[in-house]
Amino acid sequence: MVKFSTGFALLTVVSGVAASSSSTKQPFNAIAEDLSYLFDTQVPGPDSARSVVQRHRAFQQRNKQARTRNDHLAKRQSVNPLPHSGTIPAAGGTSKNGKPYPPAGAIAPKRSTLPTAWVTRYQAKKEAGLIPDIPQSKLDEKTGTLKYPSSVDVSKVCSWTLTNCNDGDIWLSPQGKTAITFDDGPTQYSADLINFLTQEKQATTHFLIGSSILNQPDGMHALASHDLAQLGVHTFSHTLQTTKSDLQIVGDLGWTMQLIYEWTGKVPMYWRAPEGDLDARVRAIAKQVFGLQSVMWNRDADDWCLKDGGGSENSIHKCRTVTYDDVVAEYKAWAHNSSLEGTNTLMHETKDQTIKAFKEYYGFLKASKYKMGAVASIIGAPWYQNQMGPTDPVEEANSIIPQREAMNYTDGGLHTVGSAGGAALGDFSQLKTTTISPSSGSGSSAAGLNSGAAADGTSSNGSSGSASTSAAGRANGWMTVQVYALAGLSVGTASAALIFGL
Ligand SMILES: *[C@@H]1O[C@H](CO)[C@@H](O)[C@H](O)[C@H]1NC(C)=O
Ligand SMILES: *[C@@H]1O[C@H](CO)[C@@H](O)[C@H](O)[C@H]1NC(C)=O
Ligand SMILES: *[C@@H]1O[C@H](CO)[C@@H](O)[C@H](O)[C@H]1NC(C)=O
Ligand SMILES: [Zn+2]
Repeated sequence: MVKFSTGFALLTVVSGVAASSSSTKQPFNAIAEDLSYLFDTQVPGPDSARSVVQRHRAFQQRNKQARTRNDHLAKRQSVNPLPHSGTIPAAGGTSKNGKPYPPAGAIAPKRSTLPTAWVTRYQAKKEAGLIPDIPQSKLDEKTGTLKYPSSVDVSKVCSWTLTNCNDGDIWLSPQGKTAITFDDGPTQYSADLINFLTQEKQATTHFLIGSSILNQPDGMHALASHDLAQLGVHTFSHTLQTTKSDLQIVGDLGWTMQLIYEWTGKVPMYWRAPEGDLDARVRAIAKQVFGLQSVMWNRDADDWCLKDGGGSENSIHKCRTVTYDDVVAEYKAWAHNSSLEGTNTLMHETKDQTIKAFKEYYGFLKASKYKMGAVASIIGAPWYQNQMGPTDPVEEANSIIPQREAMNYTDGGLHTVGSAGGAALGDFSQLKTTTISPSSGSGSSAAGLNSGAAADGTSSNGSSGSASTSAAGRANGWMTVQVYALAGLSVGTASAALIFGL
């Protein structure tokens, strides 16, 4: 770990081309658009029905193919260098938590696979009234719609799928910033993506599928080796979480966290629900049992519709109208949007074409006034439950059970208000080798972030101007956590600059 104790200057400037919209597309209403193809309950129709069911079948198929490759890959695992101080979990092996890894596949891990500590923690939170009694929803495969039992008042369960409710989710970014996120890794394309991101020294967030971590050790190796790739949870089975029992959700989240933790030593702090299917019960289980913060998005170009080698997944009705050029045009419109609205962009590391399209998008972003980064760096929050920023020390963790209370985000993630237990995230200063003056981020959070410009792997086009950090004392407590979150960005930038030879 590189240590800094004196002022450190970083040069940054925003000198992008004047943003102008070259797109002829209508303004993009991301959330309404996403829902329309998932489970459109207002207008149930064959389109939405076919898309969601077929999408799930495609997933199951992919998982099955991956499992058949598993033996072959498992043999190669022993020759892979270990990332960090982690171990490589092998399918069929035994976890550090003492339980065998659940079989990879599109079913939630069974109750018998859950370590006692997870179940005990779940029960304690449930008994404390922190996990609401909301019945499971059910997917009607014929109509493709999600339904709760008729006793449920759907307007009260904060379902994103059915009512767009996103209370407590992070789905925005501050003005002028864009969080780059990829779902559904690791895949055979993760290594190519990570090579690109490494060259660009670009921070991103990747929401990973637990099953795929077992099935795709090469892709996982690439992801785990790039410190600027923030790793989050996308469940073990990639199934609709509101349709699961409480303990199935515990297994889906817990096992994915466990696998990331065993590879990297880091305990994930963020998760994204497959298909965005969330309600208040699911959010509470993630937050209370595992300290996981839910992350949604506000931009989606349906890149997942693209097929390897070109073309679209025509078997999925919705995808028939989505071409590679459409996706890239959408990306261009995002990057050129003169409003510079803060965005959280959903992409997928699942096809050669999705990676190719992203690289084009990245070119547009670099030429724009947007600053790009991982979800955590964009909002000045910790990257993991045991690591402040990507170049900070990783706190030793014996398990994935949270050691700090989760943060409580409001306004799409732009603000934090206290925490679930009143002691937001505890004191992250212990994780740092550097001390930073709380005044270095002077002014509002936004100012603190902006002064960092290239914060924590966050990139912007061009470089000049200045931002600096200087040494000073540590402090404790919640407000300090916020200050540290901001300060951490500058520190992260400085150390990243050295490590990557900027
Ligand atoms: C541009 O940003 C505005 C919000 O400021 C939004 O309403 C619009 O949909 C965006 N356009 C595109 C193409 O993303
Ligand atoms: C940065 O922006 C300028 C316009 O201000 C543009 O000419 C240049 O190509 C951009 N650089 C990169 C690396 O995108
Ligand atoms: C989060 O903050 C909001 C707004 O202050 C509050 O209503 C809510 O109860 C808080 N949630 C938790 C889990 O503390
Ligand atoms: Zn997904």
